Amino acid sequence: MKKKLVILTGAGMSAESGISTFRDSGGLWDKYRVEDVATPEAFHRNPELVLEFYNIRRRELVNVKPNEGHLGIVELEKDFDVHIITQNVDNLHERAGSAHVLHLHGELMKVRSTRDESLIYELSADKPDIKMGDKCEKGYQLRPHIVWFGEAVPMISEAAEIAKQADIFVIIGTSMNVYPAAGLLDYVKRNVPVYLIDPKDVRTGRFDVHHIKKGASEGVKELRERLSDLGKG
Ligand code: APR
Repeated sequence: MKKKLVILTGAGMSAESGISTFRDSGGLWDKYRVEDVATPEAFHRNPELVLEFYNIRRRELVNVKPNEGHLGIVELEKDFDVHIITQNVDNLHERAGSAHVLHLHGELMKVRSTRDESLIYELSADKPDIKMGDKCEKGYQLRPHIVWFGEAVPMISEAAEIAKQADIFVIIGTSMNVYPAAGLLDYVKRNVPVYLIDPKDVRTGRFDVHHIKKGASEGVKELRERLSDLGKG
């Protein structure tokens, strides 16, 4: 029976693919105000600006690729039952080949009806934009399939269940600033080893974290070495 390896990832996981993080210097929240582009009120007030913010990020995403960190996680799937819980809206874990990816904050390549949220559509890489007037099959405006600040995080209970079952828990590339995602660590059993891969120190609230103070690519490589000492799956 393979050990369950649960990995919580954030923007730092995709930094080496060339995608901006949020709170590092030069990050997205240095360039845009959250309240202008990532809240329901912003969408109501200036939908064109919000749609363009996500169009820009989608155009960027279709031109980048998974990094060695994403690919290293796929290698771990050979020896462990890997479940990824990501705060990222990019599709780089999937494009790297990871099988179990749960998106807490939505998915950039998907859009949905503003009236019937079960109507979700996948955008293609060659047509990554949506604009005002693009409608769902029932005739309602489309919006990004993203969890905006102030909106519910529908996948959080499923994510908490996964965290509870972890035999090993790994945190990669998140400042652990945003809840409820950051609270998932509280569901991890006390005796479960926790690894952190981040070039900076991150407050996790747990004293016993094994900090691999490196970027995602080098950090996942070291994690694989350490875990292979732990004995396969
Ligand atoms: N490898 C690994 N980690 C990195 C790298 C790298 N190459 N570069 C930066 N980091 C780390 C930073 O040190 C920081 O701890 O990644 C983390 C990025 O933190 P944030 O920018 O706050 O991103 P994140 O934690 O994912 O933000 C959470 O906030 O804005 C919302 O919804 C958005 O999902 C996002 C959430």
